[in-house]
Amino acid sequence: MNLQNHSYGIQDNSYQAAGELTGLTKLVDDFYDNMSTFPEAKIIRDMHPKDLTLSRKKLVYFLAGWLGGPSLYAEHFGGISIPASHQHLVIGNPEGDAWLLCMEKALEKQPYQEDFKTYLIEQLKFPTERIKDVCSQNT
Ligand code: HEM
Repeated sequence: MNLQNHSYGIQDNSYQAAGELTGLTKLVDDFYDNMSTFPEAKIIRDMHPKDLTLSRKKLVYFLAGWLGGPSLYAEHFGGISIPASHQHLVIGNPEGDAWLLCMEKALEKQPYQEDFKTYLIEQLKFPTERIKDVCSQNT
């Protein structure tokens, strides 16, 4: 256990730990490559457009700001609420688990500190749960 873990939520520490824009672009590329190849992820890959160029860009830009770096999503696309922007989709446990699996396996491939990989996947579980909550209100 090291103390660094406690500081990832401060300022732009997480953005730096993720390798800034270059590192996030690699992470998101690996994430969407996983989504396009893992059989478990077919259910969520099919929800996305065939061409993932814009999806990749939006996720990189969102994560940059979410991790304390530049607010690129807001600058380029305007304000966003992650739960609201997924509300029209059908997202329950299988979809949430598939999303997190693609991200966890993408994180494994990055040259990040191990404790940062753990921190990030744990943090990503919060918006995933919020998305599942709002989507469950559709039924
Ligand atoms: C819970 C499982 C999730 C599923 C199944 C899912 C699926 C999707 C789909 C189908 C889109 C539309 C893609 C497009 O049309 O380009 C989308 C957009 C997006 N997702 Fe997710 N997503 C999930 C979780 C997350 C999480 C946890 C985050 C952030 C940490 C996130 C961030 C985004 C962003 C930033 C966009 C672009 C929104 C926009 O500009 O409209 N997603 N997602």
